[in-house]
Amino acid sequence: METEAFLAQTEEDTAALGRRVGRRLRAGDLVLLYGELGAGKTVFARGLAWGAGFRGRVASPTFALAHVYRGGRLTLHHLDLYRLKTGELAELGLDELLADPRGAVAVEWPEAGRPWPDRRIEARLSHVRGGRRIVLRDRRA
Ligand SMILES: Nc1ncnc2c1ncn2[C@@H]1O[C@H](COP(=O)(O)OP(=O)(O)O)[C@@H](O)[C@H]1O
Ligand SMILES: [Mg+2]
Repeated sequence: METEAFLAQTEEDTAALGRRVGRRLRAGDLVLLYGELGAGKTVFARGLAWGAGFRGRVASPTFALAHVYRGGRLTLHHLDLYRLKTGELAELGLDELLADPRGAVAVEWPEAGRPWPDRRIEARLSHVRGGRRIVLRDRRA
């Protein structure tokens, strides 16, 4: 179980870190993105998608709840549970997304969801002087 802490001074640094994780993503992986509003979760998710080989636009799925990025090495399902209402989690079909044999899942505001599988990657982002502190924990092993 590996934990690493980074200081991302710019949005680009955060995206680059996400990209690094995205390059190592495998089908079936789950990435939980913790952090307050504006911490950089969506920026990090953009990096994940790019690292997985997606070449299009990545925006916050706050209102849609879920976006899907196809065309890369693997499909990335990008969820944001910030505005989740009671009952909507079931509609998202999370089990199907997690079982996608060609896909991985990234979740913003996982606290709003449910108990998640232990086997996951966690990224915790917080505002600090000089940018964002990002703590990565790989719990896939
Ligand atoms: N080091 C940094 N990493 C990520 N975002 C940053 C950084 N510095 C400034 N920002 C800005 O903070 C905002 C982060 O937004 P976003 O990724 O949507 O946050 P969240 O999804 O956590 O609410 C963006 O406007 C981005 O330009
Ligand atoms: Mg966001």
